Amino acid sequence: MPRKILVTSALPYANGDIHLGHLVGYIQADIWVRFQRMRGNIVHYVCADDTHGTPVMLRAEKEGVSPEALIARVHDEHLRDFTAFGIAFDNYYSTHSPETRAYCEDFYARLQAAGMIETRAIEQFYDPVKEIFLPDRFIKGDCPRCGAADQYGDNCEACGAAYAPAELKNPRSAVSGATPVLRASEHYFFRLSDKRAVAFLREWTRGTETRDGVSVRHLPPEAANKMQEWLGAEGENKLSDWDISRDAPYFGFEIPGAPGKYFYVWLDAPIGYLASFKHYAQGKDIALEDYTDEARAHAVGTEMAHFIGKDILYFHALFWPAMLKFARYRTPSQLCVNGYLTVDGAKMSKSRGTFITARSWLDGTLDPEALRYYFASKSNGTVEDLDLNLNDMIAKVNADLVGKFVNIASRCAGFVTKRFAGKLGDIDADAARPFAQAWTTGEIAAAFEARDDARALREIMRLADVANEYIATRRPWELARQDGKEAELHVACSTAITLFRDLARYLKPVLPAMVAKIETFLAIAPLDWQGDWQPLPAGHCIAPYKHLATRIEPAQTEALIEANRETLQAPPPLATPSKEALRHASRAAASGEDGLRNKPGGQAMPTLSIEDFAKVDLRVAKIVAADFVDGADKLLRLSLDIGEDKPRQVFAGIKSAYAPEALIGRLTVMVANLAPRKMKFGLSEGMVLAASDPEGTTPGIHLLTPDSGAAPGMKIK
Ligand code: MSP
Ligand code: ZN
Repeated sequence: MPRKILVTSALPYANGDIHLGHLVGYIQADIWVRFQRMRGNIVHYVCADDTHGTPVMLRAEKEGVSPEALIARVHDEHLRDFTAFGIAFDNYYSTHSPETRAYCEDFYARLQAAGMIETRAIEQFYDPVKEIFLPDRFIKGDCPRCGAADQYGDNCEACGAAYAPAELKNPRSAVSGATPVLRASEHYFFRLSDKRAVAFLREWTRGTETRDGVSVRHLPPEAANKMQEWLGAEGENKLSDWDISRDAPYFGFEIPGAPGKYFYVWLDAPIGYLASFKHYAQGKDIALEDYTDEARAHAVGTEMAHFIGKDILYFHALFWPAMLKFARYRTPSQLCVNGYLTVDGAKMSKSRGTFITARSWLDGTLDPEALRYYFASKSNGTVEDLDLNLNDMIAKVNADLVGKFVNIASRCAGFVTKRFAGKLGDIDADAARPFAQAWTTGEIAAAFEARDDARALREIMRLADVANEYIATRRPWELARQDGKEAELHVACSTAITLFRDLARYLKPVLPAMVAKIETFLAIAPLDWQGDWQPLPAGHCIAPYKHLATRIEPAQTEALIEANRETLQAPPPLATPSKEALRHASRAAASGEDGLRNKPGGQAMPTLSIEDFAKVDLRVAKIVAADFVDGADKLLRLSLDIGEDKPRQVFAGIKSAYAPEALIGRLTVMVANLAPRKMKFGLSEGMVLAASDPEGTTPGIHLLTPDSGAAPGMKIK
C-alpha cells in the first residue's frame, strides 16, 4: 500500500525576494518529495505566499500600490524562482484566498466552541501620526539594558537583551518617527495556557508516529527538548495565551462578529497550508478530509509533514498543533526542521555580496542543480546550521558531478554509438554486484527517507568510485584500438552504462533536470525506486551522448557576489543621493538653512576639504556608443570619449530613462578616476553623473550636460 503524504514547505513572506537561505529548506523538502514519489508513494506537495500583516501593508503603501497588487507581483516572482530551482509544488497558492478565509472562520468557530478563545484589553504602542498599532519590529529606541541606540522593540542587537517594547528608552515609531503612545484595545486570545492545551502539547511534542514499521518523531530530538524547556516542568505552566487579533488598519481577514479586529498573520499562515491543499484537491480525485479531519486521517493512515526553518519552530510546535487539536483537525505527523544558512561562515550580508538572491543565481551562468547538489551534500536531517562556501561548492560539484558521475557516460557512450550502433551488450555481472547489493540493502533509500541527504550522496559517490575503478581497469579507449577486443569493449561499455543508470536513479531526487536528460539519452522510462535490480538489457538501444554538465569556474561565483553587491547595497553606478538626503535638502532649502551640510536627523555631514574634492577627476565625456546589456534590467553600456586613445566602458543605471540611440553624440560628465569595477557584464571604468529623486514629484533620471562649447576630456573643477 502506498503511503499518502501531504507535504508542506513554510510559506515565504510576500514582502521580499527568495534568497539562498530560503532555498535550503525548499530544496530539502523537494528532494524528499521526489524520493517518496519514486518509491511509489502518493505525495501532495503544497505551499503559498504568506501575504498578510503590517509589513506587507506598509510596503504596498510605500510603493504606491494596493496590497493585492503587491502580493500578486511577488507571488509570480516567487513561483518563477522556485520553479527554476526545480521545486515542484503541486500548488503554489496565496493565504489571501477564499479557502484561507473560510478555514480561518471555521477554526475560530471551533476553537470558540471548545472554550479556547478569550478576549481581554491590553495596552500596546500606537503611532499617533500614522494611526496604527505598531508591531514590535516597527518600534525603535535605546536599549533599556545597555543603552545602545536604534534598537528594535523586542531585543537589542548590541547586548542581546530581550524586553517588551514598553521598556525601550526614547521609543519612536520606525514608520513615522513619532513618539508612540500606549493605548488600550481589546484583543482576542487563543488560550494556550489552558490545562488541556498544556497537557496535549506535553504529549504531542514528545510523540511519534509509525510509518512502514518505522517510528518517526513528531519533532527532531533537539526541538523536542527545547519544547520541554518552553513548557516547563510537569505541573508547571510557562505558556502564555496567544494574541491572535490585530486592530484595523490591517491587511488580513476580519474576525467574524468583531468589526475592526483582524486575524493575526501567524494565525492564518499555517492555515494557508490546508487552504492551498484544498484549492489543489478541488475537482481532483483526492478526498480532502482523509488528510485534514482528525478521525478520517487516522482511519485512512495519511501523513502530514511540515518542512520549516528552525526560527519558526515555536509557531509550528506549539500554536499550530494546539489549534489543530482543539479544532478537531489532524495534527502533524512530523516537523522537518532545517538549520540556518551562513555564507563563508558568517551571516548573509548585503555589503559583502553574500546575501544572494535566487534570481541572481539564475540570471548568472550557474546551474540551479549545482546548488541543489551542494545543499543536499550538507543536509543531514538535523537542525544544525549549514554553511555555503562558494569555493567548496565549486570543488564539490566539479569533483562529484563532472569528475565522477558524468564522466562515466562521456567516456563510454561514444563507443556504444560508433561501434555497436547504439546497442548495449551483455554486462559483467561481477562488476555490477556491488550495485545490485546496494540496491537490495536499501541503504541509500533509508538515508533519503531520514532526510540525511549527505549520507545518501556519500554512498552514491562511493559507488561512483567503484564504477570509475572498473572503467580504469578495463580501459575501453585502449580496447577500442586493439584488434579482436570488440566483445570485451562491448561488455565494458555496456556495464559502465548500466552502472551509470544506477547512479542517475539515485541522484534523481537531487538532480531532476539532469536526470531527465539522462533518461532521454538512455532511452528509458522515467526512473523509479521500485522492483528488483536489473541491468539494462542486452540489445537495448541508447541515444548518442550529449553534453550533460560543465565545470564551474571561480569567475562565475565571483560575478555572483558582484551582482549581489550591485543589486542590493552599493549605489548604482551613477551618483544618486539618497532619498532622505534629497528630501532633507529641499526641506532645508525652503527653511533657509544650509541643506547640503546636514543629513536627515540633523547630524552634520563631514565637510570636505578642497584637497579631498580635487581627488575626484571629473571630465567632460562624449557618449560615442550606447547599448542595452543582455540580462541587465537597469543598465546601459556606454562608450565614453574623454580624449584618451580608446573610449572608456561604463555601465550606467539609466536604462529606464534613456533610449540608447538618444544618447549617442551627447556630452555628459564622468568620474574618470573611479577604481574600475568588475561587474558580471564586464569592466566598468568610471561613472556618469545624473540627478534623480525617485520619490519626488519629478521622478526619473536626469543626466548632466555641460554648457555648449565644452569638449571631451575637459577637466571639471
Ligand atoms: N512566513 C513565515 C512562515 C510561515 S509558515 C506558515 C516565514 N517566512 S520567511 O520568508 O521568513 O521564511 C520562509 C522559510 O525560509 C522559513 O522556513 C525560514 O525558516 C526559512 N529561512 C529564511 N532564511 C533562512 C536562512 N538564512 N537559512 C535557512 N532557512 C531560512 O518565516
Ligand atoms: Zn542592549
